[in-house]
Amino acid sequence: MSTIADLEKVVRDALDQIEHPALKETLLDLGMFDRIEEDAEAFTVHLKSPDSDRKAQIQLEAQIRGFLTKASPGKRVKIRFTVDESLKPEEQGNRIRGVKNVIAIGSGKGGVGKSTVSANIAAALKLKGLKVGLLDADIYGPSIGKMFGVPGKLALQGDGKNKIIPFEANGIKIISFAFMLAPEQAVVWRGPMLGKAVEQFLYEVIWGELDVLLIDLPPGTGDVQLSLAQLVDLDGAVIVTTPQNVALQDASRAASMFQQVKIPILGVIENMSEFQCPKCGHVTNIFSRNGGAAMSAKLSVPELGSVPLQKEIMDSGEDGLPITLKDPDGLVATAYKKIADKILVEVEKFK
Ligand SMILES: Nc1ncnc2c1ncn2[C@@H]1O[C@H](COP(=O)(O)OP(=O)(O)OP(=O)(O)O)[C@@H](O)[C@H]1O
Ligand SMILES: [Mg+2]
Repeated sequence: MSTIADLEKVVRDALDQIEHPALKETLLDLGMFDRIEEDAEAFTVHLKSPDSDRKAQIQLEAQIRGFLTKASPGKRVKIRFTVDESLKPEEQGNRIRGVKNVIAIGSGKGGVGKSTVSANIAAALKLKGLKVGLLDADIYGPSIGKMFGVPGKLALQGDGKNKIIPFEANGIKIISFAFMLAPEQAVVWRGPMLGKAVEQFLYEVIWGELDVLLIDLPPGTGDVQLSLAQLVDLDGAVIVTTPQNVALQDASRAASMFQQVKIPILGVIENMSEFQCPKCGHVTNIFSRNGGAAMSAKLSVPELGSVPLQKEIMDSGEDGLPITLKDPDGLVATAYKKIADKILVEVEKFK
């Protein structure tokens, strides 16, 4: 084989399979191919480089040469890089391409309803016509899949390269650690492995164009939170609490962690606020009152809203359809729509 066209095909194929280490896109998608020239001694492959990082270029060249063994050009192949800054994505820092807002949902303590709240906010944003993704980053107790009708492991499709196509339910794109695990499999990911897994969920999933990517965090202030803060520019965090004092203390621990890693706190959601008897309509404040308001005052952040304690909310978590989608004009859905609107307003303030 010796024509330029043949060599170009092999080069393009190589560029299509090699991902740029910093920009997380294939070299072909980045537009790095320029042209191939031929003279008596050699072919010269001209590539455009988004930056002048010579070390990265040498590494890429070695990877491309690995593919060139498939070609038999008959003469030497030189690879030349020319810096072309226009290839560099405009957004700097750790942004996921195409994703406008990344918002984490956290709590200091487990069981306050963080996953239920995440699923319903995703649903409310979807009802508003936005493009929504939901990343279940709770390695210890992933539950988002179940809330959308996928209780366990899922055969996720790839794109034939290195990327994963997320599961889609009711138009919401979802990824969960649970999709990767057999039901009883213990989770032993720690430190670097965990960071790698989180990184894959952020950058190796084809999220496409999203208005909002919500991240359901594990409870507490552990490794996943820190990995996330390092790996991606979070546009904000939402804190879920229940009205009683103990939960409040834990929530403020979560808040101080977000403050330390400089993630704006968009506000506080009080979940399981009050119980309205379905028979007589009497309202009972099972766990004291106004914890969310106290918390947001203490942190000087907005109250995003409150969600009542309702059996239907719990049931819908088991049924695989968040209540906001099941009963989109009901009381709870209305509360979530208001919360979603507030989140969108608050996140803009930090742009
Ligand atoms: N407002 C509510 N009314 C009634 N039940 C609720 C409400 N919010 C959450 N629940 C129920 O409480 C339980 C815990 O909720 P969820 O799993 O969302 O909490 P979590 O904070 O994500 O927990 P974990 O810390 O285990 O991740 C679930 O059974 C859920 O259905
Ligand atoms: Mg949860």
